[in-house]
Amino acid sequence: MSQKEYQKLTKLLKQAALLGSATSLLEWDQETYMPPEGISLRSEMLEILSGLAHKQKTSKQIGKLLHSLTHATDLKTQQKACLREVARDYKHATCLPNAFVKKLSETTSQATHIWQTARTTNDFALFAPHLEKVISLHRKKADLLGYSDHPYNALLDLYEPGLTVATLNPLFTRLQSKLSSLLSQIAKKPPTNDSCLYVSCSQDQQLKLASHFLDAVHLTKQTSRLDLSAHPFCMGLHPRDIRMTTALRDKNPLFCFFSVLHEAGHALYDQGLPFEHYGTPLGEAISLGIHESQSRFWETRIGQSLPFWKHFFPLFQKELPEAFGNISLDTFYKAVNTVTPSCIRIEADEVTYNLHIILRFEIEKKLMEGSLSVKEIPELWNHLMEQYLNVTPTSFKEGCLQDVHWSCGLIGYFPTYTLGNLFASQFFEVFAKDFPDWESKVASGNLFFIREWLKEKIHIHGREFTADELCQRICGKPLSEEAFTRHLESKYL
Ligand code: CO
Repeated sequence: MSQKEYQKLTKLLKQAALLGSATSLLEWDQETYMPPEGISLRSEMLEILSGLAHKQKTSKQIGKLLHSLTHATDLKTQQKACLREVARDYKHATCLPNAFVKKLSETTSQATHIWQTARTTNDFALFAPHLEKVISLHRKKADLLGYSDHPYNALLDLYEPGLTVATLNPLFTRLQSKLSSLLSQIAKKPPTNDSCLYVSCSQDQQLKLASHFLDAVHLTKQTSRLDLSAHPFCMGLHPRDIRMTTALRDKNPLFCFFSVLHEAGHALYDQGLPFEHYGTPLGEAISLGIHESQSRFWETRIGQSLPFWKHFFPLFQKELPEAFGNISLDTFYKAVNTVTPSCIRIEADEVTYNLHIILRFEIEKKLMEGSLSVKEIPELWNHLMEQYLNVTPTSFKEGCLQDVHWSCGLIGYFPTYTLGNLFASQFFEVFAKDFPDWESKVASGNLFFIREWLKEKIHIHGREFTADELCQRICGKPLSEEAFTRHLESKYL
């Protein structure tokens, strides 16, 4: 009996997922190929499709099936895990009243619009009242979602299930102090510079270099695409249709190359999810932190390693002989690993990046608990920048107006970037133990075994395990900052 109900449930979930994938496809098109005036009806298309998806996800039928399946006795372990996650999603999808969701979406869409102007004109006062509305709606959202201990927990949980302020406070405090002390030690060493990387390179050449990497990890044109957009992103419509984009920056071919490594890491996760479970949690990614761990694994742990460049640097030299022909591998490797504290998060290196995140965490936490007002943000922002990174923003654009996240209501999202880096390093230590010869393999251009390892350890499980359980299974211990700081210390000191 319950197997029949379970099948019925997964069928309904699949229909919702198909509508979700269709929505994503329209969004992908909007960022890549849509002619500008296509926007006139695109928003309505998106609204109607996402409305249908929401209706399907919150249907009473799903609620009833969930209820009766909670008493089922003949479900397999994997099915039970699936139900746990469906129940979680159902609760999230149904606990916010439609009127509230509509108000939030109107407020954030207007705030995003104003943020763009405020950023260009360096006018925080213009943005502040809109951000105040976004914050107050998010405090309301936390109440509607429910939480214990801290309102910020309700939002953190949306992106990283189970994550709390009580977990992040000690973790980020230790990480911040280790990173700041590492930075001051690096500052005492002779400076390296990355000026050799800023060279002219045509669009075709940049994409050709990226394709060498995609070939090596077997991300083929049969199941994926790489296109151009203003900001790089990856959308997995389903495991056999993955859309990646990259962006080109003038005289900076490495921007495109590392963006592709990053997005390909996301793509490989989406592709490694079990196709037969598409539409159910068993065919979905665990959390944003685990997703980001996959992109950062490829981008930083593989892509910024010496063995990787032993293979790829000669390809760069061949493609761009005038720029790189007379540069040594050592010079190039040091250049791609240059550490420079700066004000801009998205330009940060692997040592300073997480300090930008910790700063945002501290501010979001205070905004949510009500101990910081929006107008006090710039002062605290600059104070923390000086304390953590020893740099001072010279404008709001370089400071608290640099990210789009707050305006579009992504509060609680930032910490997952850092969790991604910590998970990646912790997984990497296990990977390196499993493959003591990984360096020689990678130096000979073999990357496929890494993809297979990540797939078997992480991707194929979907959401069967929570992030904590997965970490424990793979590493035999919970997440901490230790593997990450160990890596940085051995590399940079
Ligand atoms: Co990412």
